[in-house]
Amino acid sequence: MTSPIRTERHGDVLVIVSDNPPVNALGAAVRAGLDAGIKEAAGDASIAAVVIRCDGRTFFAGADITEFGKPMRGPGLGEVIDTIEACGKPVVAAIHGTALGGGCEVALGCHYRIAVPSAKLGTPEVKLGLLPGAGGTQRLPRLAGVALALEMTATGNPISAKKAQEAGLVDRLAGEDSLEADALAFAKEVAGHRPIPRASERTVAADREAVEAFRKANARKFRGFDAPAANIACVEKASSGATFAEGIAFEREQFTKLMGGTQSAAQRHLFFAERQAAKVDDIPEGTQLRPIKRVGVIGAGTMGGGISMNFLQAGIPVTIVETAQEALDRGTGTIRKNYEASAAKGRFQPEQVEAMMGALTPTLSLDDLKECDLIIEAVYENMDVKKELFTKLDAIAKPGAILASNTSYLNIDEMAAVTSRPGDVIGTHFFSPANVMKLLEVVRGAQTAPDVLATVMALAKPIGKVAVVSGVCPGFIGNRMLSQRQQAANAMLMQGADPEQIDRVLVEFGMPMGPFQMGDLAGVDIGWHRDPNRIESIRDALAARGRWGQKTKKGWYDYDDKRNPTPSPEVKEIIEDFRSRSNLQRRTFTDEEILAATLYPMVNEGAKILDEGMAQRASDIDVVWIYGYGWPVYRGGPMFWANTVGLDKVVAGLDANDVPVAPMLRRKAEAGEKF
Ligand code: 3HC
Repeated sequence: MTSPIRTERHGDVLVIVSDNPPVNALGAAVRAGLDAGIKEAAGDASIAAVVIRCDGRTFFAGADITEFGKPMRGPGLGEVIDTIEACGKPVVAAIHGTALGGGCEVALGCHYRIAVPSAKLGTPEVKLGLLPGAGGTQRLPRLAGVALALEMTATGNPISAKKAQEAGLVDRLAGEDSLEADALAFAKEVAGHRPIPRASERTVAADREAVEAFRKANARKFRGFDAPAANIACVEKASSGATFAEGIAFEREQFTKLMGGTQSAAQRHLFFAERQAAKVDDIPEGTQLRPIKRVGVIGAGTMGGGISMNFLQAGIPVTIVETAQEALDRGTGTIRKNYEASAAKGRFQPEQVEAMMGALTPTLSLDDLKECDLIIEAVYENMDVKKELFTKLDAIAKPGAILASNTSYLNIDEMAAVTSRPGDVIGTHFFSPANVMKLLEVVRGAQTAPDVLATVMALAKPIGKVAVVSGVCPGFIGNRMLSQRQQAANAMLMQGADPEQIDRVLVEFGMPMGPFQMGDLAGVDIGWHRDPNRIESIRDALAARGRWGQKTKKGWYDYDDKRNPTPSPEVKEIIEDFRSRSNLQRRTFTDEEILAATLYPMVNEGAKILDEGMAQRASDIDVVWIYGYGWPVYRGGPMFWANTVGLDKVVAGLDANDVPVAPMLRRKAEAGEKF
């Protein structure tokens, strides 16, 4: 097998080039090649300096994640970086694209760094439940200072080449198109400079206050995660007066612990799950996509507005339709307000806000959608209303336009059936707030054309979404499983659990909120029959008393002006009333029982969804729950989590609660298999 690393001689500079598509991951062959390249330079008296650069779209984007958990082959990355740093001839890293993780660490091991202005440097290991384990936690603070090292390692967010230059991580910016030549010139210039600057030989001043302030400021964000604290501890170690060798030993110990833990396994699972989800098994790669140059959105409410914002941000003009001027003005006003608030936080320049607003065409006429390539309806969830709309769209939309519904549970096939072009109809289920939540559930109708599905899947990335394909079934993947959780929570209420206990247990598990808090946020009145005299459930009783959730300052909880919840005596009374009229046995629930009762039925439903072919793979279900509902990333989604619990234990829990177990789940549990 040919090595992905080659060397080129340019006078007295040896250029070590990596060509390991797609992202120059630092797999065994790359590491061995780098090691050999440096040794070649060291052993050749005619070489005075070295450049390390990459072909293709990016500098090394990190260790090869596919090698994790397998036996190490060849030299470890830490060793290779030490070899680079120890080289007696100056080594220059020439950076383009993204120098991430191990890639960033290679750059830090080099003696000089030159980058194109568009390059980014980052240590995203924390997002995989890890830390920069090839010396990065010790070299980074030595070069960039404690504050930036904390920020980069514990959040995993990359920084621009310009910021890296200001921080001393990058020595020089190259021309955007002349990296190779500029790096060579730089190497020639520094070839004779002595002493050679080595990050490991630097010291870093202790900054206890910065470490403590950072810990405190991010406590909420890092809640439940192991890796951020380990990253912080390593950076702290680097600035504690410990030697570089002591720091490396500490880093190794922490890295090994994280790598062997469930959290990192879960986060690495998500990395691949998310990329896998984009692939539709029966659609060949390279399927011709339909061009999407203008999008139409029907409905300027919360959903329609949020959906529009995604496209405007991606530079795709939007025509937004409402039925009344007032609603249209309110909707476009909200979009502007949201963008201006983001601009105030520095996310956009004011002129970007104007450009996005300029690309928004508000109208009261559906006829104005005739130029749109994709039309998404986000109107009231009522099949008759939707059918009427699709009939009209069929008459208005140009041939080849994609007609999409944002429904969260209605049947796409019924909508498609009223059109003369069912192949062009698809579901695009966004999650609220639609400009924030990363999930896009793409609902494939019975007749949805392959190129329509492929087009919508491909569109997800530019609008910042992660798309998952679902078949047509009530509630699709996410809400179908959610309703199982809700039913279980309601059943426990009747038997003696309090809303606040159930919510607390799920929040402690890592969900952003529990089922009753979620009900208050979404609106207790959503889907309510609106007959105050028809009280068939606790929820009916709450809705009838105007307890509609946060918007009326009372729902399952009472709310103060700052939306802080407190348990409500009125709700307790209502629940007691229902309990006293049922003949259910009153009991108490442990936290563990609550978790099992609410989450196992979700896993069970997930198994049915898989068995019916409504989801392509178990990992797609995990992606839905992580990006659509805030399932804790470090637990890897419900199906991954079920594997860690043990499917036999899940089945036993369902049996104990008299929940009919999905045949696929029972089969897998009995065979000792996993999802
Ligand atoms: N290892 C193995 N495969 C990788 C990889 C990596 N580090 N990074 C990306 N890939 C694969 C992806 O799985 C994908 O494969 P597929 O085409 O078969 O699905 C392919 O490369 C392309 O990736 P993307 O679709 O993500 O391409 P983008 O252009 O959108 O993004 C990127 C490129 C920004 C580099 C993004 O891939 C990324 O963020 N990669 C991961 C970076 C990372 O986490 N690095 C740290 C690794 S851990 C580490 O270095 C430990 C060390 O400290 C010891």
